[in-house]
Amino acid sequence: MISPASIDLVFETARVEEVIGDFVQLKKAGSNFKGLSPFSDERSPSFMVSPVKQIWKDFSTGKGGTVVSFLMEHEHFTYPEAIKYLAKKYNIEIEETEQSNEQKEKANERESLYLVSEFASSYFQNILHKTDQGKSIGLSYFKERGFTEETIKRFDLGYSLDEWQAFTDEALKKGYNIDYLEKTGLTIVKDEKRFDRFKGRVMFPIKSMSGRVLGFGGRILINDKKAAKYLNSPESDIYHKSNVLYGIYDAKQSIAKEDNCYLVEGYTDVIQFYQTGVTNVVSSSGTALTSEQIRLINRLTKNITVLFDGDAAGMRASLRGIDLILEQGMNVKVCSFPEGEDPDSFARQNTLEELTEYLSQSSKDFIQFKASILFEESKNDPIKKAETVRDIVNSISKIPDQIKKEIYIQECARIMDISEDVLFSTLAQIANKDAGDDKKSGRGDYKAFDVIKNQQQPAAVKKVDVQYLLERKIIEILLLYGSKSEEFEDLVLKENDKGELELEPVIHTARVFEKIYLDLQDDEMQFGNPQFKTIYYTLIEALNQNENFELRSFINSVDPDMGYEISNILMEDERYSLDNWQRMDIFPKEKQHSVAQLVSETILNLRCFLIDQKVKEFQQETLSNKADVNRNVLEEVKDYSGLKMLLSRKLNRVL
Ligand code: CTP
Ligand code: MN
Repeated sequence: MISPASIDLVFETARVEEVIGDFVQLKKAGSNFKGLSPFSDERSPSFMVSPVKQIWKDFSTGKGGTVVSFLMEHEHFTYPEAIKYLAKKYNIEIEETEQSNEQKEKANERESLYLVSEFASSYFQNILHKTDQGKSIGLSYFKERGFTEETIKRFDLGYSLDEWQAFTDEALKKGYNIDYLEKTGLTIVKDEKRFDRFKGRVMFPIKSMSGRVLGFGGRILINDKKAAKYLNSPESDIYHKSNVLYGIYDAKQSIAKEDNCYLVEGYTDVIQFYQTGVTNVVSSSGTALTSEQIRLINRLTKNITVLFDGDAAGMRASLRGIDLILEQGMNVKVCSFPEGEDPDSFARQNTLEELTEYLSQSSKDFIQFKASILFEESKNDPIKKAETVRDIVNSISKIPDQIKKEIYIQECARIMDISEDVLFSTLAQIANKDAGDDKKSGRGDYKAFDVIKNQQQPAAVKKVDVQYLLERKIIEILLLYGSKSEEFEDLVLKENDKGELELEPVIHTARVFEKIYLDLQDDEMQFGNPQFKTIYYTLIEALNQNENFELRSFINSVDPDMGYEISNILMEDERYSLDNWQRMDIFPKEKQHSVAQLVSETILNLRCFLIDQKVKEFQQETLSNKADVNRNVLEEVKDYSGLKMLLSRKLNRVL
């Protein structure tokens, strides 16, 4: 493990603008740098880097974060890889921490499994290229399949001799421990005997996102009805088949660049596509797609195209798995191949131009595709048709985006010749049922997020959500100035000479976060946005515990999702320096104001807002009980209105 001190040193030293400058051409723009987004094709720059805040934000894709998250996004590094990259760039010596014996053993064990696997991979390659049996059997098989020498090398393909323990003997001779050979499944130990698992097979090493060998697939070369065509490594501490995708290491750059990922079924489909020139391709290797696998792709692109072999049975089974992809908010297309063809055979028979032409012509939006084939099957059978409708609406219900959902409902109504109303009410039924399930499983918060997400999009919803903006502002203030000490002016109720109560200004010094925390507590103010609420409490806690609070280390200490949200908040202001957009006229112009003033005004604004809400509530109440207009309510409204006048006077605003 990299020691926390080393990580801190890396963060202190690395300059976001320098690191990003190696990948993106940056131009100075005020106190920031801007450039063309490396994550999308654009002609006017919307990519901003803030040297002051040490964060970046890409307004074209919404991505943003710290220097490390940039490297993880852009280079697809893991966290430790990104730290090591920076350490190298800035000549920092990384110190690995002492771990407990147990941790060490576990880490050592995993490391040993990696080492054994890497050894095996180079051993199998060596056999393929350097031995007579390897060349005459393994290499000639690959060549027969149309793989070029270059392709064979790129995918590190290999061959395992057709002998009982040739590999195991060699590994033991080289000093690898039999335990690790057994745990990776490369050797099968039975009583006193040892066997090579992959005896007589051609070998496909399976690599992680960062290129380490995790396990293998081995294909048999003879026609044997009793033996499996492909044999795969068993699950181990380093190989979990549900969260690897074959080909991801070689495909990741082009998946991000093309902003699409082709998903195929087999090893050879990936390789043949790659060789033909379509390199943004991965395979789930014969298993049903899992959400972990989808998450791997989701880090690279929002678009996925599932490619089916040309047999209908397999296709129908796979349609179900696709709902998982929709759930993650991804756009899914499907493409099937002519009867009897799979992606491998099709790519082999066609040029790159023909293949890309076919892919673009035959890829259909998943929902439309599903609706049309199911409809074909069920159009003359009312009962089956009802089932089909539910099935498709169920898929649509998985899509997180409300607008997309509606468009799909309209589309399906057209394809299946059924009224939109019926589809919408089916959707509502499913949503209600899901909401019930969510409550039971304790994740009922989603609705709230949905609403806020929609309000965030100014194009779709014109109405400004004042509470949202104020809450956001408070977080921003805490992030930027939370630990500062400032002089605040508070109004305190005092008795004057005549014995009347009067509000009197009192100056006192406090740290910004204390002031905010206490004021909000006084008002029993609750954050409406659950994300802001979590950030708020995390921040207050951090500020309270740490006298020398530093924004940078705070962002690095929170989980990546929160880090992302925080950089969004911090960079929101910068958006306005991109265009000449009119700022919403809610906040005082910060630069001319002191921090203390900014804090007080934001809190006062929020109070005014909350009072308005209260008054509205009372009005509602009064309207609904017209018969006996409640005197107390009127009194309260009057009190609140008075309070608001006071506050507004303090804000120098005319009501
Ligand atoms: N698979 C497996 N075990 C099997 C059969 C298949 O793990 N017994 C996996 C492999 O990852 C294989 C994928 O499922 O690549 C697709 O299977 P299939 O279509 O049968 O194989 P192809 O990739 O077409 O292999 P080939 O062209 O070599 O016959
Ligand atoms: Mn095949």
